[in-house]
Amino acid sequence: MAKIAFFELEGWEKEIIEKNLQGHELILLNEKLSDTIIDKVKDAEIISVFIYSRITSDILEKLPSLKAIVTRSTGYDHIDIEACRKKGIHVYNIPDYGSNTVAEFTFLLILALYRRFREILSSEWIDAIRTRGYELQGKTIGVIGTGRIGSRVVKLAHAFGMKILAYDLYPRKELIEKYNVKYVDLETLLRESDIITLHLPLTKETYHLINRQNIKLVKKGAILVNTARGALVETEAIIEALDKGILGGVALDVFEGEHVLKEEIDIVYGKKQYSIEELKKGLEAHILMKYPNVIITPHIAYNTWEAVHRILDQTIETIKQILKGQQPKNKVV
Ligand code: NAI
Repeated sequence: MAKIAFFELEGWEKEIIEKNLQGHELILLNEKLSDTIIDKVKDAEIISVFIYSRITSDILEKLPSLKAIVTRSTGYDHIDIEACRKKGIHVYNIPDYGSNTVAEFTFLLILALYRRFREILSSEWIDAIRTRGYELQGKTIGVIGTGRIGSRVVKLAHAFGMKILAYDLYPRKELIEKYNVKYVDLETLLRESDIITLHLPLTKETYHLINRQNIKLVKKGAILVNTARGALVETEAIIEALDKGILGGVALDVFEGEHVLKEEIDIVYGKKQYSIEELKKGLEAHILMKYPNVIITPHIAYNTWEAVHRILDQTIETIKQILKGQQPKNKVV
């Protein structure tokens, strides 16, 4: 019998977990894993978290029995992977529950910007000029990262009749052959794309990949969409590019300061502490929300019923394999 703790759960998930992991000691919590609740789970052997539980080396120190972490997400930048490696704690992610889910949402954001959906929904909808948009057909999309999600974005872009530029460490031959994708360097992609969309993991190498220096290369009036991770883009660069008319629109499902916005009431009441730098990022997100040509969504590109069921099923399957002593394929470290 293993002690397994789940964090950031929704009510409907608990019943499914209980049914599938019978015979184990289960701690099923709605809260994220943080210092305040760590005492409840200090002898857990396996934990499963979502993206708002930040697994730092300090947190790991307080979980001496921990053998494995299963994050119910593709990205794992909320986990200190190096600290886990040093402690021999295995980390598993859910790599392919929703490539299509995120790609579809990316096009929702692109179309919303291109067809002025904010203006259409506002009372100004009868204003033909304010609500006049642009078409995707014939435009150039620059796809940064052509892994699982980026490849699906390429496929959808091709169906819309777009020209496709791409940037990735590992160009995919099948995308070149099937969808006429042209791989270029990042600078060329920024210069030539009408729409720039990000689909990379957040790593040391990709942190602020788009920044105050290279944003100046962007074609005047292009739009930027980020559904990957906030810190791929320096928020100050976006604000400056909007002010200077370099960017014609921005849609962010992820942004620096996401944590601050999610917890701002707790910050106001003194229950949560953030550094000045992090608070500044939260403020920048608030500033961005005031621009009429900016759309901000709260990290929900993954959020369909199909995808959340796939995430839970794959999480349970991963935990069952770990318990049987097998090696799940989705091991990060
Ligand atoms: P993937 O691993 O299949 O693809 C990532 C691609 O990025 C690969 O082709 C890789 O070669 C490329 N890459 C990595 N580092 C690079 C670098 N330094 N320079 C150039 N290319 C680089 O990942 P997938 O499934 O496509 O997901 C991408 C990201 O999307 C995830 O890491 C996650 O952060 C984010 N995501 C966001 C969601 C949301 O709800 N907003 C949901 C799911 C994923």
